[in-house]
Amino acid sequence: MLIDTHSHIYLKEFDDDLDNVIQNAVNVGVEKIILPNINLSSIAKMKAVKLAYPLLTELAIGLHPTSIDDNYKKELDAMFCDFNPTQYVAVGEVGIDLYWDKTFIKQQKDAFNDQIEFAKIHNIPIIIHSRNSFDEILDVLKPHIKSGINGVFHCFPGNTEQAKCVVDMGFYIGIGGVLTYKNSNMPAVVKNIPLQYILLETDAPYLSPVPKRGKRNEPAYVKYVAEAIAYLTGDTYETVCATTGANAKQVFGL
Ligand code: NI
Repeated sequence: MLIDTHSHIYLKEFDDDLDNVIQNAVNVGVEKIILPNINLSSIAKMKAVKLAYPLLTELAIGLHPTSIDDNYKKELDAMFCDFNPTQYVAVGEVGIDLYWDKTFIKQQKDAFNDQIEFAKIHNIPIIIHSRNSFDEILDVLKPHIKSGINGVFHCFPGNTEQAKCVVDMGFYIGIGGVLTYKNSNMPAVVKNIPLQYILLETDAPYLSPVPKRGKRNEPAYVKYVAEAIAYLTGDTYETVCATTGANAKQVFGL
């Protein structure tokens, strides 16, 4: 059970060959691909992909932190006004990104908090994007933990200590291609965090794992992430796929 829990295959990078990309994924045993949203303008194409591949794909809805500015409230209202819980498995991707720009840090925190509240109301998990912002994420998230909110820190960017903190809050660690990069923290994280708390992802079209590093990423390459985990933990490839697949089913209610 290979599941790519984070893939943006609705972006223009896949306009020319999405059928092939989907076939490649199916050929290596990918059974589900979760598509997290970015902003208002990405929803229509995301839904079109879901329509074209209804059994293989699931959607998340949310406003990405790098899409947040002074207008975020209007955009959230427009995004969530016709929300239908049967269409979405999560709120995402949401969070705080202080790598590219700190101008809207206050708005990013507020929007993250608003979207956590929305997920709580609808009892669905959140897909968290965190970049240079782990402490800020915790500040916003921690007051909500006792409500039972859960989800995943996608493309987990932290160290083992931070990973343990994430797991203690009931969240999963999303592991992608960065695991295969030289000087990555992720091998240490993977060795110290039980497989029961790990989800596999690609973040396609970004962050291709070795041996595809530098090329466009696609859901089929999630197999390289599973292989890298198996190599590090000593588990079999099948165990890695089965356990992380069961984790994804559990958290996203697949
Ligand atoms: Ni993403």
